[in-house]
Amino acid sequence: MQNRTVKSRLFCLHLVLGFGLLLSGCGKGSPEQTPAARKPQSAAKSTYTIGMSQCNLGEPWRVQMNADVRAAAEKHPNLKVIYKDAQNDTLKQRAHVEEFVSAKVDLIIISPKEAAPLTEPVAKAVEAGIPVIVLDRRLLGDKYTCFIGADNRKIGRAAGEWIKKTLGGKGKVVELKGLMTSTPGQDRHAGFREGIAGSAIEIIFEADMKWLEPEARKEMESALSRFSKIDLVYAHNDPGAHGAYLAAKAAGREKEMMFVGIDALPHEGVAYVSQGILSATFQYPTGGAEAIETALKILSGQPVPKEITLGSRLFTKDNVARGGDPLN
Ligand code: FRU
Repeated sequence: MQNRTVKSRLFCLHLVLGFGLLLSGCGKGSPEQTPAARKPQSAAKSTYTIGMSQCNLGEPWRVQMNADVRAAAEKHPNLKVIYKDAQNDTLKQRAHVEEFVSAKVDLIIISPKEAAPLTEPVAKAVEAGIPVIVLDRRLLGDKYTCFIGADNRKIGRAAGEWIKKTLGGKGKVVELKGLMTSTPGQDRHAGFREGIAGSAIEIIFEADMKWLEPEARKEMESALSRFSKIDLVYAHNDPGAHGAYLAAKAAGREKEMMFVGIDALPHEGVAYVSQGILSATFQYPTGGAEAIETALKILSGQPVPKEITLGSRLFTKDNVARGGDPLN
């Protein structure tokens, strides 16, 4: 009898120890697992609330990202997503993250406007035990749960290589950059310069158009007034390339040059390629569906990678009808 009690106590001890190990040590040493994902989840809930912080909804690409999040989340009745739009205001976006933390949401998805100012509120959310998925634009450091986005440096490099080949290794190029305090702008710039390295391509004009079509149009007006010969405009996104095209068209010069952009939304960049407005665009997927897929894993205590890299496709007039080609 006593022996049985001792045995059953020992058995319980093993169980408890085993379970404890499972909770604390599971996946340790696996570089794939993030601290937040390792945390024991509180008992499964019937509904999980996700706070989605979008930096702005003024651009079609961001509207698409929210639509992708919504479509994926709607398939899971146990998910409730609260959407906040910071209207391109960094301070507002910081406040939105803080509000999600005070409201004790179960998880935050953020597509941050700028890296530096959003790093601290996200780190605080993680410290408060709320997992955070960062979408598309990066933060500084590693105090987040998972980053999801395409490789902007690779896309920039592919754009540079495509431009180098298309221009036969020489020509006068205008570069209209995305917001340079955001990481995609920095990476699309650095990658592009790597892509054209060693060629006789000359960047005659460069400006930060902050991802915005009206800004791109204004900057392009300056470029047109200063340079009588422009062979190609490389813009870090399709709204920027389209703004440049509109400026050139207004000056009656749009046929003198080519326009290249990034994003490739079907109803935006890809349509511009089909219409002959853009010569090329590189797809930049929103990651909305992947964010929900990853959120579900985190909420159920499964390990997730620290980083999920999405692919891209190139669209030109030659391949647009068959849906573009993947980037290698
Ligand atoms: C939308 C956008 C996209 C671009 C992305 C970069 O705000 O400017 O056009 O690809 O952000 O973060």
